[in-house]
Amino acid sequence: MKKISGIRGFHDILPPQSEHFTVIEARLRAVLAAYNYDEIRTPIAERTELFARSIGETTDIVEKEMYSFDDRDGTSLTLRPEGTASVVRAAIEAGLAQRDRVVKLCYVGPMFRRERPQKGRYRQFHQLGVELIGRDDPLADAEVVVLLADCLVAAGVTGTEIVVNSLGDAACRPAYRAALAAYGEAHADALCTNCQQRRTRNPLRLLDCKEEGCRRVMADAPPVSAYLCEPCRRHFAEVERLLEAAGVPFTESARLVRGLDYYARTAFEVLAPNLGAQNAVGGGGRYDGLVEALGGPPVAGIGFALGLERLIMAAGEEALDRRPEVCVIPLVESAAASVLQLARRLRLAGTRCEIESSGRSLKSAMRRADKLGAHFALLVGEDEIQAGRATVRDMRRQTDHRLALALAGAGPVLAAAIREIGGIDGA
Ligand code: HAM
Repeated sequence: MKKISGIRGFHDILPPQSEHFTVIEARLRAVLAAYNYDEIRTPIAERTELFARSIGETTDIVEKEMYSFDDRDGTSLTLRPEGTASVVRAAIEAGLAQRDRVVKLCYVGPMFRRERPQKGRYRQFHQLGVELIGRDDPLADAEVVVLLADCLVAAGVTGTEIVVNSLGDAACRPAYRAALAAYGEAHADALCTNCQQRRTRNPLRLLDCKEEGCRRVMADAPPVSAYLCEPCRRHFAEVERLLEAAGVPFTESARLVRGLDYYARTAFEVLAPNLGAQNAVGGGGRYDGLVEALGGPPVAGIGFALGLERLIMAAGEEALDRRPEVCVIPLVESAAASVLQLARRLRLAGTRCEIESSGRSLKSAMRRADKLGAHFALLVGEDEIQAGRATVRDMRRQTDHRLALALAGAGPVLAAAIREIGGIDGA
């Protein structure tokens, strides 16, 4: 019999990669819980018109990338290419999107876009997203970007760049669109065939073209910052001030326009250095006007989504492995109670911890700790208990350190002290 293969761009997620998804999702969910977001699960298919109206008729997603099909009654349905439209639709339908009410929803799940598959770009991929509906103040924008930064830390991703821009609003964007359209017309000869269409239908997209010729032309295009109205300018300045005060590094780029039309004012993206062409691990922005456009009341909104495949790639396998961090080893039988207590404190602090007592000798216990892949061994013997100290061996660097157990009254303090020995900060 002929083998039946999977669909191009749709992937099976096998171990150990499935583990990486589990680990990263758990870490991100912990951050989302701390920010008081509740989970929403929306269906994978929606009416096609939902995406056409929200993402925009003239976007690449709606024009070329949607998996749409007719249901048996003739209704056009689409596999969701993103989560925001569905979440807003659901919030309106459930009566959650209301003036004077703040709704904080998060979601994890597969999304579908018929793009050309390449490294980091799939036709079925997974996003973790958040939507904060009902706030239009700059503090909300800053808090959402800080949450994004905290998600990156929790995921173990380093070296990323957060890029921000303001896209203006219904008051000032039309003038900017017109300016870009005029600029596109003046340089029409140098634009690719795609951009020839974009320049009249969706001129903002000119800034997003990856073609070398278009990039060169658009480098001198008028920046959106020159067209922002006073309220948009003030809003954006306050967002940037708050981000600076929060110590979240970011860069401002007038070229950042995003591939979805519902954005207004603040837009942002996270770029990772080691991913190649598909280097955006996440993106988001404010979408005031979307709730209304989908038939709800005039309620503001802002959110972002992280691409889990790209986030896992950016984090690297080491940051997501499930090996125990600490292996606690009793050197004598009488240390058993102390070992049990220490391990419990570490575990309650969220440290993945193993007790290794099966070996007769220290040497065999260390061999086992090594085999388990533990980063640290915590050695507890008679002397150690008497002196209120234990030995921490950094298994990777092969160095020994003395640790005061009294200092380690609380589990998190002990966990932090051990990590500090390994030169791991914060995490
Ligand atoms: P987006 O920028 O289209 O935004 O997608 C967010 C992230 O999903 C991207 O940064 C990328 O990591 C990942 N992603 C997108 N397409 C693919 C693909 N074909 N293969 C792999 N990963 C991909 C949105 O979807 C908005 N809904 C975000 C948002 C939420 N804005 C406001 N709230």
